[in-house]
Amino acid sequence: MKAQAIYNVPRSILGEGPVWDDRLNALYWVDIIGGKVHGLKDNRVDTVFQINDFVTCVALTSNPNYLLVTLKDRVVLVDVNARSIVKTLAKVDEPSTNRLNDCKVDAAGRLWFGSMDMNEREPSGSLYVLDPSGTVRKVLSGVTISNGIVWSLDNKFMYYIDSPTRKIMVFRFDLDKGELMNKAMDIDLSRHEGIPDGMTIDSEGYLWVAMYGGGRVLRIDPGKRVVIDEVDVPVSYTTSCTFGGGDGLMSLYITTARNYPREVEREGDDGKVFIANTEIRGYTANKYLVNL
Ligand code: BGC
Ligand code: CA
Repeated sequence: MKAQAIYNVPRSILGEGPVWDDRLNALYWVDIIGGKVHGLKDNRVDTVFQINDFVTCVALTSNPNYLLVTLKDRVVLVDVNARSIVKTLAKVDEPSTNRLNDCKVDAAGRLWFGSMDMNEREPSGSLYVLDPSGTVRKVLSGVTISNGIVWSLDNKFMYYIDSPTRKIMVFRFDLDKGELMNKAMDIDLSRHEGIPDGMTIDSEGYLWVAMYGGGRVLRIDPGKRVVIDEVDVPVSYTTSCTFGGGDGLMSLYITTARNYPREVEREGDDGKVFIANTEIRGYTANKYLVNL
C-alpha cells in the first residue's frame, strides 16, 4: 500500500497527533514546533489555533466547538471558533528540559497524555491521566519519549509506546477505574526501520504504527506480535496516523515531520499529511467529556 501527500496542506516542522472528528468530517493535527493546530475540512485547510508555545497534541471533546490541546506543560481547552484558550484544565510539574508529547482519549472520556525529554536521552518523562472531573494522576514514570497510546477494541488492553525502547508495551487495562494493571507483554519492533511513534487501531483490532525515520506505517497483529501489512510513505519522518474520511473511516491519514531533526532545508512533501486508501475501517475517536 502506498500513501500520497495531500497537496494543499502546509508543511509542518513536526506534524503530529492526527485525529478525525466524525461529527464534522474534519481532520485535526498539530505542528509541535510551529505551535499550531491545523484543521482540514472539505479540502480546505485552516489553522484553528496558534500560540507561542509547543502545541504537542490535540483531542476531541464532547462539544465539537471545543478541542483539548496539550502545550509544553499544560492541557488547555480551546474554543475553535474564537481560536483562543478558554481555560487551563491541568498543569504538570516537569523538568524544564521536558515537554508533553502524544495524547489520546479513552472510551470513558479521560485524556491520557505523556511527556518526553527534549534531548531524547533521559527517562525523565511520565504518563498522566486527566479525568473528566479535572483531576490529574501520574500513572507511569521513567519514560524517555512518551508516544503512541491506544486501546484494544474490548478495552481490556492498553498499547503504549516509549519510542527509544522500539517496543509496544501491552498493559492489561481497567476501563472503569482508568488504571493500568500488569504488563502483559511487549511487541518488539527493533528489527524494523525507524522507531515506533504514534499509532491507531482498526475495526479488526490490528494496530497501525508510524515508524519515525522509517518512512512507513506498520499494520501489526498484536496477538501474534507480527507485522501483517505496511503503508509506504515517500518521506522518512512518519510520526502518527489515524483513520478518517466521510466514507466510513476507510482512509489512513499520516502526519510527517519536515526533515526534523536534521534541519536540512529541502523542498518536498515532508511535513505534509499523507493519505492511504486502506479499504479497512478505523475506529471513531473518543471524546473528552466537557461541561460547558
Ligand atoms: C516527538 C519527537 C521525537 C519523535 C521520535 C515524536 O513524538 O515529538 O520529538 O523526535 O517522536 O521519537
Ligand atoms: Ca508522536
